[in-house]
Amino acid sequence: MMGEIQSVTVVGAGTMGSQIALQSALAGRYQVTLVDAVPGQLQRARANNTKLVDRAVEKGRMTREQADAALSRIKDSANLEQAAKTADLVIEAVIEDFDTKSKVFSELGMHADEDAIIASNSSTIAISRLADLTGNPARCCNMHFFHPVTVMQLCEVVKGPKTSDTTIQAATTFVKNIDRTPVVLKKEIWGFIVNRILFAASEEAMHLLEGGHASAEDIDIAVQKGLNWPMGPFHLLDFSGLDIFYGAMKDRHRQGEGADAPEVLRKLVEDGNLGRKTGKGFFEYEK
Ligand SMILES: NC(=O)c1ccc[n+]([C@@H]2O[C@H](COP(=O)([O-])OP(=O)(O)OC[C@H]3O[C@@H](n4cnc5c(N)ncnc54)[C@H](O)[C@@H]3O)[C@@H](O)[C@H]2O)c1
Repeated sequence: MMGEIQSVTVVGAGTMGSQIALQSALAGRYQVTLVDAVPGQLQRARANNTKLVDRAVEKGRMTREQADAALSRIKDSANLEQAAKTADLVIEAVIEDFDTKSKVFSELGMHADEDAIIASNSSTIAISRLADLTGNPARCCNMHFFHPVTVMQLCEVVKGPKTSDTTIQAATTFVKNIDRTPVVLKKEIWGFIVNRILFAASEEAMHLLEGGHASAEDIDIAVQKGLNWPMGPFHLLDFSGLDIFYGAMKDRHRQGEGADAPEVLRKLVEDGNLGRKTGKGFFEYEK
């Protein structure tokens, strides 16, 4: 029901979905259902969330009772239809694949209450591409959380061309209630706010590197010490995974929203140097 959100369903129990569920449960006021289609993933998500709260208890950031209560508020489900029926808010966090998300949105359109809010956590698929599949696009928006959700404060709430103000209001209230900080993108655009700024800075950093103007080390030092960013753009790219960034740049280019990926990035990705996870990207790392 559009009104007060009481029950939240998160679809996709991977890196993002599992922690969105945990952060929602930690608020103490929502019943949370976490759905995944792949056998074993719900158990993995529960094990990861248990580790996270155990560490928080050890560090004195929450009590054992709060931790146990949060975990017990998350119900696992392999049945999207059932989980959709009981939700006032559904947050979709399945893999970044348009066809997979389209199927989920169509199913949600069939089974969720017609006023339930349906949000996508996608980083690159704006809500206008999915909302009509639910039959009621006014109740759809993007809710773009950041990794790791239990640490990163921000959630970008994105208004598509058909999203109602009531939906944006309810989504931002929910984000505040789970102790995260909402910002509203009033007019949907590729990359939302943070990734547009990040892409602009990263592109310029690669441009300076390719032009031989400065080394990757010095560009990172300049940004860290001159702009007070905690990490320079090349370390951030390596940390995020160069394949992810490369894929997103290609996608942006295909959608007519910016330049193609620079040569320096293409070459690293084609050589299998994907950053920290492979031991080499713009910098080298111990495996
Ligand atoms: N990882 C990040 O840093 C990050 C940050 C912000 C947003 N996102 C976005 O969040 C979404 C999820 O990313 P992730 O990194 O958590 O991916 P992930 O691969 O870790 O998790 C995706 C989960 O979805 C499940 N799944 C796939 N198809 C399904 C279906 N039909 N029904 C139910 N579950 C299904 C998979 O089994 C998997 O557990 C993507 O849209 C991504 O763009 C990711």
